[in-house]
Amino acid sequence: MKLIEQQNLTPRQIVAELDKYIIGQKEAKRSVSIALRNRWRRLKSDPEIREEIIPNNILMIGPTGVGKTEIARRLAKLAGAPFIKVEASKFTEVGYVGRDVESMIRDLTDIAVNMVRLEMQERVKERAASIVEEKILDILIPPVRKKPSAVNTSGREVGFNPDTASDEELNERTRERFREKLKNGELEDRKIEIEVDSKKTPMMQVFGPQGMEEMGVNLQDMLGNLTRGSRKSKRTLPISEAREVLLEQEAEKLIDHEAAVQEALERVQNQGIVFIDEIDKVASDSSATSKGGGEVSRQGVQRDLLPIVEGSTVNTKHGIVKTDHILFIGSGAFHVSKPSDLIPELQGRFPIRVELNSLTEEDFFNILTQPKNALTKQYQAMLESEGVKVEFTEDAIREIAKIAADVNRQVENIGARRLHTILSTLLEELLFAVPDDISSGEINIDNAYVEKQLSDLVKNKDLSHYIL
Ligand SMILES: Nc1ncnc2c1ncn2[C@@H]1O[C@H](COP(=O)(O)OP(=O)(O)OP(=O)(O)O)[C@@H](O)[C@H]1O
Ligand SMILES: [Mg+2]
Repeated sequence: MKLIEQQNLTPRQIVAELDKYIIGQKEAKRSVSIALRNRWRRLKSDPEIREEIIPNNILMIGPTGVGKTEIARRLAKLAGAPFIKVEASKFTEVGYVGRDVESMIRDLTDIAVNMVRLEMQERVKERAASIVEEKILDILIPPVRKKPSAVNTSGREVGFNPDTASDEELNERTRERFREKLKNGELEDRKIEIEVDSKKTPMMQVFGPQGMEEMGVNLQDMLGNLTRGSRKSKRTLPISEAREVLLEQEAEKLIDHEAAVQEALERVQNQGIVFIDEIDKVASDSSATSKGGGEVSRQGVQRDLLPIVEGSTVNTKHGIVKTDHILFIGSGAFHVSKPSDLIPELQGRFPIRVELNSLTEEDFFNILTQPKNALTKQYQAMLESEGVKVEFTEDAIREIAKIAADVNRQVENIGARRLHTILSTLLEELLFAVPDDISSGEINIDNAYVEKQLSDLVKNKDLSHYIL
């Protein structure tokens, strides 16, 4: 089964993959790696027990900017699983204006359907390409219509008509010549008129009343159905662009939509990951004595959340989704409220608690140098595209890490996000000067450069409040 093959990384391998992007946070990495592997174990297990095995949902607890969201996002990528991140504080209790919690499952299903469709399109790419080539040729050199008398089962010998035959032959030869040209990319700029299915209307997003959405009815789709058929339009495009449009259309036709939806539903139910951010914001503040309106609403959201996390069915426009085996990862800082302030039933549904640590100066140094997508590497790549090579000395990076830790301590601890503000301030002058004043060469960012750009800001508390 395809589902299984995709996620056969062992826990150790999963952690090793996460290590490429996230520094530290060992415990959190271990927990998510186990959770991911468990789903594979479950799918491999005896069908009788399989239904009984429920995922161990995880609650990640830690201050802002230490990698909670990043871990979940990388995990989903690794798993090739449908993944959605939602903010708990955005939801409202059923019956109130706002998004109801079931919408996260509907959105997740949409994501899965798209994901499977893209994969299927990828698989039929070659077939689609050859169909598109013929289509473009048909437009450039319309095939001659064979006269009915000339088309005979035995072809040329019987009723052979030299006039039409030569037409056909000529046509065929011209087509072959053009086919060559097409392949050599000689006709890319030539304009052709193609028929476009205008089924995507990205400019118009129709919002239905909440009830409709709840029933899994999408107003836009309904409107779409009404106008189906009359939605072909003609467009004149250069072949290079027309090919892209036609490719997508043909690939769409080649894939089995029913199968795509079925596969997507399977994946959501068995592999889906829902990341609920800011779950602490819907917990009742234990220190608050008054039971205001907000309190009631927060509890309401938790109650609505419960059946979904516990396992229930949600109607989506693609079909019914059982949420029993979806993995939920809750996350929050839990500064004000504590996990024990969540309603007891919900606490029980997030049995695994992992704490993420605050990041240290040493962590910052590693974050700046080790991950594949480290900020320093991002800036280097950007400036490299302008022909300017930037090198950071180790001293400089140590200094940046130290400043980040200092500012976090003095102003506010925003974790690794501090590195973004500091690096952009540090490099502001350079980013502005390229390419007008500096168009090539090598720039060395050393300790002195960091001092020069940042030391005043760091010393001046008032300024660093605003800038760093
Ligand atoms: N341990 C880490 N290793 C590498 N990069 C990190 C780490 N922690 C945070 N980052 C980087 O910092 C940024 C913010 O991290 P992330 O979104 O994971 O924060 P968070 O813990 O979810 O915070 P919040 O509670 O505010 O949602 C991201 O760009 C991420 O790449
Ligand atoms: Mg986050």
